[in-house]
Amino acid sequence: MTENPNPPIDLRSDTVTRPTQAMRQAMAAAEVGDDVYGEDPTIRKLEWRAAEIFGKESAIFVPSGVMGNTIAIKLHTQHGEEIVCEAHAHVLDWELSMSAWFSGVFARPVEAPDGVLRWQNIRPAVRTASPHNARTSLICVENTHNMAGGIVTPLAVAEEIYGEAQARGLKVHLDGARVFHAATFLRQPVAAIARYADTVMFCLSKGLGAPVGSLLVGSAEDITRAHAYRKRLGGGMRQAGVLAAAGLIALEQMSLRLQEDHSDAQAFADAITEIPGIRITHEVQTNIVIFDVTQTAFSSSTISSRLRAMGVLLNGIDEQRMRAVTHFDVSREQCLAAAAALRRAVSATDSQPAPQLGFTQL
Ligand SMILES: Cc1ncc(COP(=O)(O)O)c(C=O)c1O
Repeated sequence: MTENPNPPIDLRSDTVTRPTQAMRQAMAAAEVGDDVYGEDPTIRKLEWRAAEIFGKESAIFVPSGVMGNTIAIKLHTQHGEEIVCEAHAHVLDWELSMSAWFSGVFARPVEAPDGVLRWQNIRPAVRTASPHNARTSLICVENTHNMAGGIVTPLAVAEEIYGEAQARGLKVHLDGARVFHAATFLRQPVAAIARYADTVMFCLSKGLGAPVGSLLVGSAEDITRAHAYRKRLGGGMRQAGVLAAAGLIALEQMSLRLQEDHSDAQAFADAITEIPGIRITHEVQTNIVIFDVTQTAFSSSTISSRLRAMGVLLNGIDEQRMRAVTHFDVSREQCLAAAAALRRAVSATDSQPAPQLGFTQL
């Protein structure tokens, strides 16, 4: 198979998105100041707008989603307590055990087969303090659920969890790395989703296209405390208004175009469903398509390296499943070209073992 000279079609993740021209211009022109002193006007504006859009009192800009989740778990728990989350949640599987390392809490996983964590799943895992049990203090929900295929939690489900949690004095943190995708699917403003959580972390640097950054939104009291934890984690940034300038465009404009990514994902899914041996493992609701390859003759890493040789970047989650994530840097035509390449990759008889490549980056 010959190497392809064109820039690769990159469906590995929406984290690979690059800043738009408008973002680059806004970054160059950004008003800045020292944010540790609270003097960066562009960061102030971004945080204020985020709080307003999410219907929360306040917000804090952080360099990454992992830092946002880490701070939220610290805000809502005491050392030695328990949190409940879905068994394949990002906070459990992909954040280097930060909840244990930074907050000293135990994460109790709960399986939700379709990726939608419901109160009836959570309830049996909630513990009250006793001579044998540590107290559960936080429920972490993820919407959309990355490893379940970008599945959206319905509003009624989120409302029930929040109501039951409040009745028991538990807090709810929403890992909303892709919450604008959920809002687009539900045809609701993000504030309608954020209403059912005490804090929400959302990423600017994924489908929204900003080069760096996430925000944590919540009550004024929580966000005031969050500043110290951000500083401790090394997230106290100086003239980061250059990043916030791109973040404002991501928040105000890029959040409005996500239906395009969802339609591209559906088109990709429709095309690969026709390929013998490929089985999509979930209903395609947003910009993520996870598919099983066990009925093909090849492992995901072999298929991944064959695709790479054809100019398509798409990783396995494990040896059985692969994930494609659409975003504005990949066009509909490129999504369909990637599907055609996948058909070639799984039908090639070439038994040449392919070089081993890494699994999914999130
Ligand atoms: C659901 C979810 N939460 C949190 C994160 C972490 O975001 P970041 O990579 O900005 O730390 C990711 C990353 O992909 C994610 O998919």
